[in-house]
Amino acid sequence: MEVVILADAKEIGAVAADAIGALLGRKPAAVLGLATGSSPLMIYDELVSRCDAGLLTFHQTRGFTLDEYVGLPANHPERYHNVIDRVFVSRVDFAPGAVQGPDGLAADIRAACAAYENAIHQAGGVDLQILGIGTDGHIAFNEPGSSLASRTRIKTLTRQTRIDNARFFDDDIDAVPTHCLTQGLATIMAARHVVLVATGGRKAEAVHHLVEGPVSAMWPATILQHHQHVTVLLDDAAAHRLQLAGYYRETYRAKPDWQGI
Ligand code: F6R
Repeated sequence: MEVVILADAKEIGAVAADAIGALLGRKPAAVLGLATGSSPLMIYDELVSRCDAGLLTFHQTRGFTLDEYVGLPANHPERYHNVIDRVFVSRVDFAPGAVQGPDGLAADIRAACAAYENAIHQAGGVDLQILGIGTDGHIAFNEPGSSLASRTRIKTLTRQTRIDNARFFDDDIDAVPTHCLTQGLATIMAARHVVLVATGGRKAEAVHHLVEGPVSAMWPATILQHHQHVTVLLDDAAAHRLQLAGYYRETYRAKPDWQGI
């Protein structure tokens, strides 16, 4: 696991966009895994700027989102399909239908989850997965106690996650759905490169467990310690509980520029 502590969100966006740009340069038809929430917004903004400037294109690229609320109406602004379209997909040049998400309105949830796993597989798997992390250590919506071998399925959101996400629902926790469809931990582990972003002091405890804690279903993100290529991009506040922060900084400083993440 490579831990990179950067000055601010802008720098995090640039480093992640460099990695995505390099991937698309060698594989224009790459498959991206897309997270919603606040954490990746700086990455999407940077990718939009580079696309506007003609530095990269998504016209052959495909994408899969991590998760979707169950039961939110198709036109609800917080439905993740609509969120990712608003913050990223519609702002660049993806082909129509190139980005898919799990179907939170499916009548047969089990079949919808299996179909989603199959769609990712048929696309050749995810080349680069962007992730955020919850204050309770979830990735996607794999809440504490999730099976470390899980695949796409329905999950119940914890009260903490619903409190955290109430800001997107006019601060009304009762308006936050109770269930979601989410890629499982094993689904995420199959991505070839995972780039996890965390900023702000509220994430420091989860980041501490992710990077330096024991692997445990109680902090689901810790499964990433078993992945061969994970990059964790942090600001100072999110990194402040890391014991080896000095070492991570030194290591990254010594890395040649051309190497990327
Ligand atoms: C969203 C997702 C979640 C978020 C996490 C952090 O698709 O999968 O795991 O990444 O809840 O959310 P933010 O970035 O809003 O703090």
